[in-house]
Amino acid sequence: MIIIGSDHAGFSLKESIKKHLEAIPMKVADVGCFDTNSVHYPEVADLLVKRILSGEYHRGIMICGTGIGMSITANRHKGIRATLCHDYLTAKMSREHNNSNLLVMGGRIIGIETALNVVDVWLSTEFQGGRHQQRLDLIEKFSS
Ligand code: RB5
Repeated sequence: MIIIGSDHAGFSLKESIKKHLEAIPMKVADVGCFDTNSVHYPEVADLLVKRILSGEYHRGIMICGTGIGMSITANRHKGIRATLCHDYLTAKMSREHNNSNLLVMGGRIIGIETALNVVDVWLSTEFQGGRHQQRLDLIEKFSS
């Protein structure tokens, strides 16, 4: 079970990822957007983040044009570890070291095959804990 969302610039990639996950099969909740009409990415990110913070979903995927705007928006919230991933290594490390609970990608940046590989790696890689948990605790400590 996962929650997904995008703005207009990430719409097409969101649809492909949704299809990919549903074929596993995995249940996917979609917070929009639902077509390529222009929307404001912070509004979509806010909808999705709130449903993770409430505990309804543990992990989510978000896509905007570059992935930057949605990453900035999501990481304003304590407890959200949104990681902008572009390839196998960033996907793997974002889980092993950063315990990413929100995968962000740039729909105008990444190709479809790489994006689906990023999703698969991110979903199947475990957090390593230990010294990495200490570092995540420091992030929380330094957050205002
Ligand atoms: C929309 O044009 C674009 O600004 C948005 O998708 C994203 O890239 C923002 O960071």
